[in-house]
Amino acid sequence: MNLEGKVALITGSTRGIGNSIARLFLSNKAKVVICGSKLENAIKAKEDIKRELNISGDDIYPVGLNMKDTSNVEDVVNSIINKFGRIDILINNAGITSNKSLLDTTDEEFMDIFKINFFGVVSLTREVVKHMKNTGGSIINTSSMVGTYGGRNQAAYAASKFAINGLTKSLAKELGIYNIRVNAVSPGVVETDMMDIVTPEMKENLVKMTPLNRMATPSDLAGIYLYLASDLSKFTTGAIIGVDGGLVM
Ligand SMILES: NC(=O)c1ccc[n+]([C@@H]2O[C@H](COP(=O)([O-])OP(=O)(O)OC[C@H]3O[C@@H](n4cnc5c(N)ncnc54)[C@H](OP(=O)(O)O)[C@@H]3O)[C@@H](O)[C@H]2O)c1
Repeated sequence: MNLEGKVALITGSTRGIGNSIARLFLSNKAKVVICGSKLENAIKAKEDIKRELNISGDDIYPVGLNMKDTSNVEDVVNSIINKFGRIDILINNAGITSNKSLLDTTDEEFMDIFKINFFGVVSLTREVVKHMKNTGGSIINTSSMVGTYGGRNQAAYAASKFAINGLTKSLAKELGIYNIRVNAVSPGVVETDMMDIVTPEMKENLVKMTPLNRMATPSDLAGIYLYLASDLSKFTTGAIIGVDGGLVM
């Protein structure tokens, strides 16, 4: 799929799923904004990608945006517009999780998860839409299977992803008039740093429950983002698409 001429802003692309999406988009000729909580993380990710894909890096712009405190979000978006002139694709992928019971989770911890997984997404999306409404575009939010089914000891995380699903469907209804499509990808279990909170026994059980009989790698996820970003999905909006090896159905 050719994304030539398209500019993609991908949050959480210094590692994990977002990093795999960035690599696939670059291989499909997009210009990519690598975004992490700190600028130095994004610069390091850019250097690693340049070296490993053997590319010049001219099509990569690293930015730092802490989703917990988005007071600089307008400056960050303006710097991207100054660099590449447009934003066609926004992937709201940065996120954190937790594995704690309600009784062990403080209000502050609940709020931190919501700030990063939800309110940061709202702030960034608002700033991007100010520009994207002139050109149309594709917004893709990373949700989670627990954003539909809930998860034991994951109330804060699951609730933040339920909120993402509600935001996705509502913005799909609101922004269609600008030819902006809004969809979400709902991964099951993916082998990234985020899975460090899961014990080996839990991982084994999850694999047993998965018809495809393994955990996903980040590259198993990247293709659906490419599809949703491209014109091949030009009549798809408001969809929450599960990519979980059949774990939930
Ligand atoms: N892994 C799974 O099994 C799984 C399952 C379902 C859904 N998901 C969702 O998939 C998305 C990506 O997860 P992942 O597994 O790839 O996680 P990961 O490997 O832990 O990577 C997390 C990414 O989010 C960024 N991030 C974390 N806190 C941030 C903050 N305060 N501000 C800005 N960026 C921040 C990190 O950037 P820095 O490195 O720069 O801090 C990193 O690039 C998340 O939304 C997650 O909820 C994952």
